[in-house]
Amino acid sequence: MSLNTMPSTINRTFSIAPMLDWTDRHYRYFARLMSAQALLYTEMVTTGAIIHGKGDYLAYNDEEHPLALQLGGSNAVDLATCAKLAAERGYDEINLNVGCPSDRVQNGRFGACLMAEPELVAQCVEAMRAVVDIPVTVKTRIGIDEQDSYEFLTQFIDTVSAAGCDTFIIHARKAWLQGLSPKENREIPELDYPRVYQLKRDYPHLNLSLNGGVKTLTQCAEHLAHVDGVMVGREAYQNPYMLAQVDQRLCGEDKPVLSRDAVLEKMIPYIEKHLQDGGRLNHITRHITGLYQGEVGSRAWRRYVSENAHKPGAGIEVLHQARASMDLK
Ligand SMILES: Cc1cc2nc3c(=O)[nH]c(=O)nc-3n(C[C@H](O)[C@H](O)[C@H](O)COP(=O)(O)O)c2cc1C
Repeated sequence: MSLNTMPSTINRTFSIAPMLDWTDRHYRYFARLMSAQALLYTEMVTTGAIIHGKGDYLAYNDEEHPLALQLGGSNAVDLATCAKLAAERGYDEINLNVGCPSDRVQNGRFGACLMAEPELVAQCVEAMRAVVDIPVTVKTRIGIDEQDSYEFLTQFIDTVSAAGCDTFIIHARKAWLQGLSPKENREIPELDYPRVYQLKRDYPHLNLSLNGGVKTLTQCAEHLAHVDGVMVGREAYQNPYMLAQVDQRLCGEDKPVLSRDAVLEKMIPYIEKHLQDGGRLNHITRHITGLYQGEVGSRAWRRYVSENAHKPGAGIEVLHQARASMDLK
């Protein structure tokens, strides 16, 4: 058996969606403090950035594993080059973005518009699988524009799975490629969960995760009766403390649930190190302002952090003062 046909050992029960500008390595470190089991995804990184860019687009913290790199691109050779680099850097999975509808991405002929080119996606998957022994997965939508029939979706899945992709994450709404912003494309097209459930019934051998509009762990558990995994995006960012019970409620782990304060405390050494290395406080704090969401005083906490963390020289004391400001309420 070649390595890349070995069953993947990644737990896909719960994952956090790739989100540009949101799920950077600081957010992912923070998320990992709350859940050891959640599968984390990077923001989408384009093949162009990796191959031609000046920065290190593959950098991450060791603590983030299991970690998938999401790639944006449609040139099979470039994707294979990037997949290989990522595997060498220790990523646990490569995911191809076939769901982003932005104009910029369409101009580069990747993202959601690739749903119309299943053969090309299959070639890309094949090229990546040929050079790495970690799973190559695809995140997609249930359709694009007028091409929103179940047959359109199954034709895509048939073609791409024939190239060896056995894991798909399905955002359960279609994308309109013209006329809607990416944000509107996450809100306006209607969610269709039954369609994803149907896909799992028709392709029981594939590992299918459902994505889109999931807000609670109770909802996750309901979806898990129909699919293999649930991917949560916006809620995991805006209300991150939901992650603190993922391992216990969805993955059957018997361990204490960390308090919000304990999470903050565990974050402090990481932030201190970042500051020592010359980083700015708000590069990290912007990702953790949702920690106390729903708690008395959470607005005071959030306000204090956002008004002070960006100031030159702002240090860890901002977080202690922000936390103290909650108790004054
Ligand atoms: C700020 C933001 C950035 C996003 N960036 C990406 C991305 O880089 N790649 C991707 O596949 N999806 C991206 N998405 C879409 C999410 O991965 C997810 O599919 C979508 O938000 C629906 O899930 P949710 O309702 O749980 O948020 C982004 C979403 C948001 C809100």
